Amino acid sequence: MRRRLPPDKERKFKYMVKTLSRTSRFDESSQFVQHGDTSVREHCIRVAQTAYYISYRLKLSVHEEELIRGALLHDYFLYDWHETSWKNSIHGFTHPTTALKEASRDFRLSRIEKDMIKHHMFPLTVRPPRSREGKILCVADKLCALQETIGGRI
Ligand SMILES: [Fe+2]
Ligand SMILES: [Fe+2]
Repeated sequence: MRRRLPPDKERKFKYMVKTLSRTSRFDESSQFVQHGDTSVREHCIRVAQTAYYISYRLKLSVHEEELIRGALLHDYFLYDWHETSWKNSIHGFTHPTTALKEASRDFRLSRIEKDMIKHHMFPLTVRPPRSREGKILCVADKLCALQETIGGRI
């Protein structure tokens, strides 16, 4: 999917990724595979870019910084979920809580960012996100996961 943001939004997005990389453990997630040959870090950047692009194209009123940061941190769980273990067998259900815990160690998160991270796996997890930003993230995450999982095979 081609996601072209206007130059000012593109600059803002890159600045936020750079800042996050400098001020947290975000870059550690490049060691872990998410789907196919995509690392967790690449996945999170792609999802955040897609979420930002959806809000821009559909002219949705959102808190842009929170949308970007919440999306960048949505899979901030910092472990390899492909290793065989009991914990990893339920990764799909538990990692939003782990990501929220880890992200809360490094940042003072807003209500919207917490909602985004905690509920991004809906409908796998029971509760849907309440915020518009969380709903956009849910869609962007699924689109990217699908692209990363089957995109290289077709
Ligand atoms: Fe996730
Ligand atoms: Fe994700």
